[in-house]
Amino acid sequence: MAGGIDSLLRTEELVGFFIRKLLPQKSVVSLYSQGRKEFLEVLKKETPLFTYNPPKELERTLWGLKFKTPLMNAAGMFKNGECSRMVEMQGAGAYIGGTGTYSKRAGVTEIGIHLPFVTYPKSHSASNKLGLNNDGDSVNYLRAERIKENLRIPIGWSISSPPEINDETDRLKLLVMSMMFYQQSGVDFLEINESCPNTESKMPGQNDFSRRLEYVKENFLGKRENFLGIRGRKLPVVVKFSNDTRIEQLPMIMDLLFENGFDGVNFGNASSNYSLMRESIHPSERKLYDFYTSTFGGGVSGKPLKEKSLELSARAVKYLKGGKPSQEFHVIRTGGIETPKDLKESLETGVSLCQWYTGYMTRFRKDGHDVYKRFFEEFGK
Ligand SMILES: Cc1cc2nc3c(=O)[nH]c(=O)nc-3n(C[C@H](O)[C@H](O)[C@H](O)COP(=O)(O)O)c2cc1C
Repeated sequence: MAGGIDSLLRTEELVGFFIRKLLPQKSVVSLYSQGRKEFLEVLKKETPLFTYNPPKELERTLWGLKFKTPLMNAAGMFKNGECSRMVEMQGAGAYIGGTGTYSKRAGVTEIGIHLPFVTYPKSHSASNKLGLNNDGDSVNYLRAERIKENLRIPIGWSISSPPEINDETDRLKLLVMSMMFYQQSGVDFLEINESCPNTESKMPGQNDFSRRLEYVKENFLGKRENFLGIRGRKLPVVVKFSNDTRIEQLPMIMDLLFENGFDGVNFGNASSNYSLMRESIHPSERKLYDFYTSTFGGGVSGKPLKEKSLELSARAVKYLKGGKPSQEFHVIRTGGIETPKDLKESLETGVSLCQWYTGYMTRFRKDGHDVYKRFFEEFGK
């Protein structure tokens, strides 16, 4: 690893234990929130020394796009299009930027902490309440355009309707405008973030939800033929839900996605089921966890999500096989992916693609830019 990132990680390794042991919980969250921002600043300047080319047999084609492997970063890691070349060189299957919103958002500040974030290393987990901070889609679609010109792996963008807008129709109008922006930028696929635990809008009731999907169908999906343009094919759109989605909601969600012409589903986003997630938090990290979840709330990510994301995505695949929509439709699994076994299990159930965030960060600390190389070497054994 290059000097900057290496020394930052080493420092954290050396002092992290004492920070957690000796400082009040608020100071721990404050330091980790600042540390996350600094880490990203250093990461932005990183270039791996070598390009890792994963074995050809890992390649897969979704919607006519060649994904180099079935593993890629999850949304939120690179909100403003950072580090695309870096992950391509590391061997990621594809790249996703965002979540973006129509207008710039500063994100959450609570009890004086901007973008509160903390990790639970022993539990392979983290909490965040960033609140969709991003530079806004009118800036980021131009970044997406440049990334698309320079990247040889597929590029997607995650978008959300702006939660600060009160009127539902206005929110949807802006969501569709964001989708138009990225369509114009030439990205290969879009992911609608329907599930952010860190904004006011929660998963709505069935009627609201179906109205939202219909709106996107009428105003975007149904018009995609008119925009074949540079791409020569329709821009695939998937919807990402929370890993807190109840199993009974799945048939309704899948039917609505099929009927309205969506191209895939992603299970899913971080959890706000704090009492359930707490069972998977290491006893020595529960005090910090309790402080964070009772003060900020936010979303819990990483290993505690593993079982639920597998169950939801496996059931979604099963439902897909029974439902057979006329469009090509894929199930994506996100949540607790950390080991080659997790990827194998996902693929065995028929999941097309996996995304990782917390697991990537855990392995990056150990393997640096060899993060995908080591992962796939182990995967091949
Ligand atoms: C710091 C942080 C920021 C995130 N931001 C976003 C986001 O902007 N959009 C989104 O769809 N998911 C976001 N997520 C959720 C992840 O994409 C992912 O769904 C979740 O963390 C579960 O995956 P994991 O267990 O591999 O981390 C974020 C997660 C973290 C830890």
